[in-house]
Amino acid sequence: MVFYFTGTGNSLYIAKQIEAEPISIPQIINKDNLEFSAESIGIVAPIYGHEVPPMVKEFMRKARFHTDYFYMILTYGNRHGGAAELAKELCDECHIPVNYINVILMVDNWLPAFDMDEQRKIDKKIDENLDVILKDINANRNMIAEVTDADRDAHRQFLAYAAQGPADAWQHLLYVTDECTGCGICQRVCPSASVRVIDGKAVHIPGNCQTCPACAHACPQKAIKLTVPEKNPNARFRNEHISLNEIIKANCTDRN
Ligand SMILES: Cc1cc2nc3c(=O)[nH]c(=O)nc-3n(C[C@H](O)[C@H](O)[C@H](O)COP(=O)(O)O)c2cc1C
Repeated sequence: MVFYFTGTGNSLYIAKQIEAEPISIPQIINKDNLEFSAESIGIVAPIYGHEVPPMVKEFMRKARFHTDYFYMILTYGNRHGGAAELAKELCDECHIPVNYINVILMVDNWLPAFDMDEQRKIDKKIDENLDVILKDINANRNMIAEVTDADRDAHRQFLAYAAQGPADAWQHLLYVTDECTGCGICQRVCPSASVRVIDGKAVHIPGNCQTCPACAHACPQKAIKLTVPEKNPNARFRNEHISLNEIIKANCTDRN
């Protein structure tokens, strides 16, 4: 049993290599019964500021897992900042006995820092690294990925930087330009129903935005931009093995 969260398909790609039909967290987060039993249970998710997205944390806090082998695979694009250690702390807080946490480098979809056209060209040895992870999981290996003092420092620096801005700064990261045609793709790819087409134009609704930002990456007009400078406002990304329909299937719920 594998659960996943994705904005642009990296984590879904990894989840699909483990199991043909992984379970989307946005699809089940609001179900009454979040009790799961299986021989092994995994979560695949991206890291945002070295930690899993808020919805993944919420899921882990609410759910009960009955399994002999619990693992997490965290996709990241540039600097994991000790994500495995932070995820282990989350598991401890949620009373989840975790056996294995690993990180895997993929395309970095963080638009302020990276040009998607450049990112795509870098060979991040994804399938090679994934192969090792798959072997580990199949062998029920016990391991938490190594974290160095430099990683911990990077996370401390990130927290100090984030503390300088308003607490809800991340909720105001997106805006819709006049290029919007009201096609509604943004609404359907959003995992938290934070984009809605109103009177023929998309509107971003802050509050529960996960900042994935699936809407900005999927917009055919590139009409959803960030409120901070972007490396290349004309470059957008979706994992090459994942279709737009798969992102919609992952994230479009009756809340959208
Ligand atoms: C809001 C946000 C924050 C991110 N923070 C980090 C980070 O701290 N370190 C990193 O290496 N990558 C970071 N990334 C990149 C993603 O973790 C990476 O691209 C991930 O594979 C995306 O997964 P997805 O395609 O399943 O959404 C961030 C991306 C976003 C959107």
